[in-house]
Amino acid sequence: MHTQVGIIGAGPAGLLLSHMLYQAGVESVVLERGNRDHVGTRLRAGGLEHGTVALLEAVGLGRRMREIGLIVQSTDFRFDGLGHRVDFMAATGHSFMIYPQYEIVADLLLAHAQAGRQVLFDTPVTRISGIDGPRPTIHYTANGAPAELTCDFIAGCDGYHGVCRQAIPAPVLKVYEENYPFGWLGILAAVAPPSLEVAYSCHERGFAMTSFRAPEISRMYLQCPADDRAENWSDDRVWNELRLRLDVPERPPVKEGRIMQKSVTAMKSFVIEPMQYGQLFMAGDAAHIVPPTGAKGLNAALADISVLAPAFAAFYKTGKRALLDRYSGTALKRTWQVQRFAADMCTLLHRFPDGNAFTWRVQRERLEYMTGTPTGIRTYAESFVGLPFDS
Ligand code: FAD
Ligand code: PHB
Repeated sequence: MHTQVGIIGAGPAGLLLSHMLYQAGVESVVLERGNRDHVGTRLRAGGLEHGTVALLEAVGLGRRMREIGLIVQSTDFRFDGLGHRVDFMAATGHSFMIYPQYEIVADLLLAHAQAGRQVLFDTPVTRISGIDGPRPTIHYTANGAPAELTCDFIAGCDGYHGVCRQAIPAPVLKVYEENYPFGWLGILAAVAPPSLEVAYSCHERGFAMTSFRAPEISRMYLQCPADDRAENWSDDRVWNELRLRLDVPERPPVKEGRIMQKSVTAMKSFVIEPMQYGQLFMAGDAAHIVPPTGAKGLNAALADISVLAPAFAAFYKTGKRALLDRYSGTALKRTWQVQRFAADMCTLLHRFPDGNAFTWRVQRERLEYMTGTPTGIRTYAESFVGLPFDS
């Protein structure tokens, strides 16, 4: 079997790439190790930058997003017992949209089905080879038997635990990584959020935040030890801790509801350089991870595709590799800006177990500056609603 672009991973990055290549008349095959249910129901991200919304609209995926996406215009920062509202819409003219990752994946799978295109589920890729020659090959397992797909190019959209990265020779690959000394307990609850905005609390008991996935579904997070387990958190303990960390005067209090899901996520910053080697192009979590504070992971993955898909399309239209050759440089420029913001938000809002009174005091001064001065507000607002998509 041969295709023009072999795409590994049916997460948001791989599916959007496949969709955009199809629209540009470029042939591709998506191989995904999980099954359709696994891919379609992963909870994960929820917030879209305005550039992501515009991108999804531009590629014909805007209809359901317009119907059920929820517009957010401000963030409420809670510290020192008070709420400090930052109106990022007023500061930038742009809003943020809550539209869950599983809805984007559903839209993409529907678009594939409507075009009569198949995603190869239950198809784990074991390795890739030949990426520095003209016929790179994807080695995978289908129905228990080994198989191969030759391609002109391979797109490594296989997430942080994928196999593609390993094919880049060690002397070429530079890895930047930071692991944070805490995690997040995330819950999904059948209750309306206290208000339709995102609230972050920097509290001495640890970070907490409220967000939502729908008008009657809250998504909330609590800082916890990095090696904590969801089983350690009874529902009572979760609600009690959320109230202690989030409730302040003049803001609607945390409301309890049935907890439908609980899980612990580790916090990590991670970038590889370069994001391409030979005929291999890496995108999304396979190439970079951010701590979730700031809601950038999904947006960053789709921003890569907004650069990569037109570069492939230009190659097949003109035979010229210029845009493909620039992919890594273009994508990394934006990636590092996203890393800066996510790491800033992470270090600003969490209680570091090894911090001291000085670092804790300065953290709150940084919050005062960010929420109480025009420069601080603008700096936060610009990065939160989204840096420009480049191509
Ligand atoms: P993924 O969604 O990871 O997709 C990669 C795909 O590749 C997967 O389907 C995987 O099964 C497949 N794959 C891997 N290896 C192979 C193989 N060998 N063969 C075949 N297929 C393979 N971001 C935010 O912006 N806000 C959030 O609140 C947020 N919360 C998160 C919570 C969790 C628990 C996690 C893990 C991530 C969260 N993120 C969040 C990040 C966001 O979900 C990711 O940035 C986004 O999913 C990246 O999309 P992707 O397509 O690059 O990778
Ligand atoms: C979310 O809705 O999951 C979310 C929102 C904002 C963040 C992080 C996560 O900063």
